[in-house]
Amino acid sequence: MLDIKVEKTQCPKEKPGKDDPLLFGTIFTDHMFVMDYDEEKGWYDPRIVPYADLTLSPAATIFHYGQGVFEGLKAYNSENGNVNLFRPDMNAKRSNRSSDRLCIPEIPEEDYIQAIEQLVALDKDWIPSEPDHSLYIRPFIIGTDPFLGLKTSRYYQFIIILSPVGPYYPEGLDPVSIWIEDDYVRAVRGGIGEAKTGGNYAASILSQVKAHDEGYSQVLWLDGVERKYIEEVGAMNIFFKIGGKVVTPKLNGSILPGITRDSVIQLCKEWGYEVEEKRISIDEIYEAHKAGILEEVWGTGTAAVISPVGKLRWGDEIMQVKDGGIGELSHKLYDTVSGIQLGKIEDTHGWIVEI
Ligand code: PLP
Ligand code: COI
Repeated sequence: MLDIKVEKTQCPKEKPGKDDPLLFGTIFTDHMFVMDYDEEKGWYDPRIVPYADLTLSPAATIFHYGQGVFEGLKAYNSENGNVNLFRPDMNAKRSNRSSDRLCIPEIPEEDYIQAIEQLVALDKDWIPSEPDHSLYIRPFIIGTDPFLGLKTSRYYQFIIILSPVGPYYPEGLDPVSIWIEDDYVRAVRGGIGEAKTGGNYAASILSQVKAHDEGYSQVLWLDGVERKYIEEVGAMNIFFKIGGKVVTPKLNGSILPGITRDSVIQLCKEWGYEVEEKRISIDEIYEAHKAGILEEVWGTGTAAVISPVGKLRWGDEIMQVKDGGIGELSHKLYDTVSGIQLGKIEDTHGWIVEI
């Protein structure tokens, strides 16, 4: 159990009003959690302090070689007046797996979760209650060693910041359009694709800009070797419903093992759908589209929740998914996942942690 020192802010910020638009990740709460690491002491000095800029050496490892990992989860104001977290143990585990890949020291899962709970409890008045709103939690770990040689950092900081958010996409639950990238690649097997680390996102920015310029909201990545097999979207895992069956790319080392993905697979199986995690080629999707059996496409993610996809562009081909509207299963998944998160639907899986 961490002994977290708390320094409350002397100047609380004005909270956004009910009608202010909460653009994703633009507003931050009054406090943040910080804990330091060095080789001799291990993780030490856990503290909650007023939200502020950081002071780091310009030579710090994170700036030059990207040795850092992050997570994303949300806190919800539940129907019964509690604050709910959704599967935070999965974030703690995934953070440690990402850290292992990046040679960052692990944080005990219970400490990771305690730090999140204590910070959210302090800033709980920042959790918005409007529909589709929540408090986004961003824990991250950075190498802070002031040294330009390429080696693992001797010092780290674990930091958690909080941001009240509305829907990730301006479309809300309306279907998004997706650009299938067949030129650049995001990750390769054996690389760092399955770790939640900045490098994967840095690799995706150029295609994202290109896709935006063409009027698409996200990029769907193909595998880095043959550029043929579907991997994931920039900020979501991807699912297809083809001829009644649910299919999603299997975890192959270059795809982020999404927590929403895992939850959706469990729900679909419980509802009697056949769910297949497999290698899916883009030709297979195109054939299903031509045959009229590409029934639904949706993305899953913490920020994006369940995001129906209405249109896919692949080279010169534009594939409209059914009538371009919200599919029945995507809608049911959205209602169920967000219903559990908000305490409107009974949590029969033990996914909710109440604060
Ligand atoms: N894939 C990528 C690249 C992501 O950034 C995210 C978001 O976290 C996901 C998938 C979905 O993961 P999760 O459902 O755990 O948020
Ligand atoms: C999340 O959904 O938590 C993510 O980390 C995606 C990010 C690009 C906003």
